[in-house]
Amino acid sequence: MRLLLSWQAAAREAGDPQADLMALSTTDASGEPRLRNVSMKPIEDHLIGFVTDGRSGKARDIAARPRVAVMFTWMTLRRQVTVRGAAVRMSEERAAREFHRRSRPARLGSWASHQSAPITDRGVLDAAFAAAERRWPEGTPVPVPPHWTGYVIDPAEFEFVQAGRPDRLHDRDRYRLAGDTWVRQVLGS
Ligand SMILES: Cc1cc2nc3c(=O)[nH]c(=O)nc-3n(C[C@H](O)[C@H](O)[C@H](O)COP(=O)(O)O)c2cc1C
Repeated sequence: MRLLLSWQAAAREAGDPQADLMALSTTDASGEPRLRNVSMKPIEDHLIGFVTDGRSGKARDIAARPRVAVMFTWMTLRRQVTVRGAAVRMSEERAAREFHRRSRPARLGSWASHQSAPITDRGVLDAAFAAAERRWPEGTPVPVPPHWTGYVIDPAEFEFVQAGRPDRLHDRDRYRLAGDTWVRQVLGS
């Protein structure tokens, strides 16, 4: 995790516009893969967290199959990190803390959203947002929606790739947890 966080910090310094973005891969109950981007929230420097809607596709997938993979891509540095592990629900307190860190429009947006559910058109979302604004006018605290949640991934494997060499022979290191020890393997690109 220290290496992951240091690569992320280096990407931020190199001007990466969203160094916390990670592609999250899940599989649904029938084994079909699904992929989307989410923003990483570091949890106590050793876990990978993200927040989301508990009614979303990813939440349903994780309930059926908790093993996930995430991938960070930092093109500024020609680097990629993949992580595999099991996702578990974040504590309610932690999810609430993340909610209160959001901007006011984002908090209202969480009430207006019904993530991954089909709607007739964009107007449905705009109307739901306007209703949330009327319900909690400026200066009123916006409470945590019941569907607001988050997940924490406990990493069992990391893979670090440094690309960008003219010969395309990337540096590729894999770290796997064996008992309590991280075992490093250098892969043949
Ligand atoms: C830049 C960016 C950041 C995003 N961050 C999040 C996030 O932190 N949490 C989230 O639930 N969705 C986030 N999304 C939306 C997801 O990619 C996805 O569309 C949504 O979560 C629904 O996914 P699902 O139906 O597979 O669950 C983000 C999308 C983009 C493009």
